[in-house]
Parts: sequence; C-alpha cells; structure tokens
Amino acid sequence: MKKEDIILQYLKESDDYISGEDLSKKLGISRSAIWKNINSLRESGYVIESVTNRGYRIANSSDALTPNEIADGLLTESFGKIVAVYPEIDSTNEEAKRQAQKGALHGSIYVAEQQNGGKGRLGRVWKSPPKSGLWFSILLRPDAPPVQVANLTLLAGLAVSRAICAVTGCDAKIKWPNDIVIGSKKVCGILTEMTAEIDRVHFAVVGIGVNVNDESFPEELTERATSLRMESGSPVSRVTLLQHILKEFETLYTEYFLHGKESWLVPYKESCVSLNRTVSATRGQEKVIGTAVDITDGGELVVQTKDGRRVEINSGEVVVQGIYGQTP
Ligand code: BTN
Repeated sequence: MKKEDIILQYLKESDDYISGEDLSKKLGISRSAIWKNINSLRESGYVIESVTNRGYRIANSSDALTPNEIADGLLTESFGKIVAVYPEIDSTNEEAKRQAQKGALHGSIYVAEQQNGGKGRLGRVWKSPPKSGLWFSILLRPDAPPVQVANLTLLAGLAVSRAICAVTGCDAKIKWPNDIVIGSKKVCGILTEMTAEIDRVHFAVVGIGVNVNDESFPEELTERATSLRMESGSPVSRVTLLQHILKEFETLYTEYFLHGKESWLVPYKESCVSLNRTVSATRGQEKVIGTAVDITDGGELVVQTKDGRRVEINSGEVVVQGIYGQTP
C-alpha cells in the first residue's frame, strides 16, 4: 500500500485530528514527507483541514474522484472495474475512443475532474468545470448490430434517472431520448458515440455529464439547467452517484444485451416526460408537430400529428411543451 493511502486510511478512521508527529511515527517517515503526502491527497480532491498544534482531519464533505474511492463499494461485474481518472482532459468520450482503439476492455470508465473540450449532442459544447460535476464515459463492446446498440443511449438515460432518485430522492425523469430533467430543468446530458460497420459494432462510448453540486447557473441558463444540490438542498457525493449509475446501467445492459429482454421499455416510458405532451421535431426536411404517444422497442418516439399520422422520430432535437421553458 502507498504511504498516501495509509495516511488516508488513518484520517478516515479517526473522528478527531491526528498530529503530524503521530502520523510520522506510525509510518516511519519524516513530518515533511507526511506533509507532501497530505498535499498530494488534496490534489486528488480530498478536503483535509490542518490546524496548528492539533494536526490533520479529513472533512466529511470530501468527494474525491479517485480510482480507490470509486472501487470501494462498487457492486458491478464489469462496469467501472477498470477506472482512469484525469484532473483535466479534452473530453472523456475522446479519451474512451482513443483507449478503445488500443484495446481497452469492455466496461472501462474514464472520469475527469474537468474537461476543456467537453462535447454535447448535435456538435454543441458541454461546459465541464471542476468540482461541481460528474463527467465520465464508459466504453462498451456489445455483441449486437448497430440498430440494437442505438438503444444503449436510452438504457443509459433510465439508469441515470434511477440512480439520481436512489441517491437524492429527487424525482428525475427522462426527456426523450436521454436528457435527464428534474421538474422542467436539465440535470444531465448523455452523448453516445459508436464505431461500427453495417452489421457489427466495434465499440460504443456512452458519455454522461451530471450537474451535481453547482449552487447556481449563469442567468442565461437558469430556466433550463439545475443541479442535484439545488434540487435536493444538500451536497451530493459524486462517487456514490457514479457507483449507482454504473450498477443500474450494468443491470439494464445485461438484461437487454445478454438475456435479450425488453424489460427496459415499460419503466422507460413511465419515466419519460415527453409522452402525452405536445412536441415538435424534425424528420428529414419535415417539421413534425403533434402529441408524443409512444416509444417503440427500437427506441423511436411516436408522434401523433393533428392530421392523424403516426410519425416515428429517431434522432435530433425535440422540443417538449413545458420543458426548458420551450414551446413546440
Ligand atoms: C448533451 O446533453 O448534449 C450531452 C452532454 C454529454 C456530456 C458528457 S460529459 C462526459 C462526456 N464527455 C464529453 O465530452 N461529453 C460527455
């Protein structure tokens, strides 16, 4: 075990301050070496208070995204069993794709404290500042054709909404296909990318961005964006949330891709705020306005138009009445 990890263990086990001298005796290293290790733990995101004549104490609010914290208590078989954490990176989706080309394993995750080139859907920028958010991507190698793999993104949405409800008690819902909303505001976005031939997927990367501990948003976003902290009224552990998302996602993935069950569809529809509302969407060159009435097992949104047609929408931007303050 690294010295840093031993110090961390002592700090976690103690309710009170531990002096630098005690730590230095326990580990058999100098006090300045203890201080260096404490600083390195701080760089990983642990909040460690130091008080003259008393020593060091770890804050309960520590929410360090480290491989050890993520592994501790993670109840999955493969999702998140291989973890890479970066203090800063361009985009975790890009990193997952680079690692996939080098043969990284199914279920590997790439987590960043901040992204300087975070990507949203439809070529948008995804702002990813440090500390407040959970930004990560998971690499998957499903043995399935591209049409089926397209549903991965809906499974991810359902997994995130379930995890948010379990960890915070907030009533998180899905705006089709995979934005997660609380009330009428967005709390999470998902970007799925896939490398495939016509009948075979090489790999898929599911990138998930959750606004976790933001206390406010710039004025231009206040109508559209919220965070788990703002909704629940207390800080939320990103590590716990990540562990729940991975567990929920792995369960849904296994049912669908390994056991061939469509068991995600009914709960997905129950959690989907787009259904039974007026929506507008584009299909090719056509603008479709109507009521969202169903979701197919292929993941398409079925829109019933005023002239009685049922149109299946499979991608693009959908405006939903009352969500993000928009009108179709
Ligand atoms: C959207 O709603 O437009 C999708 C946003 C997806 C953001 C996440 S953050 C982690 C991963 N890395 C990226 O560059 N994007 C996704």
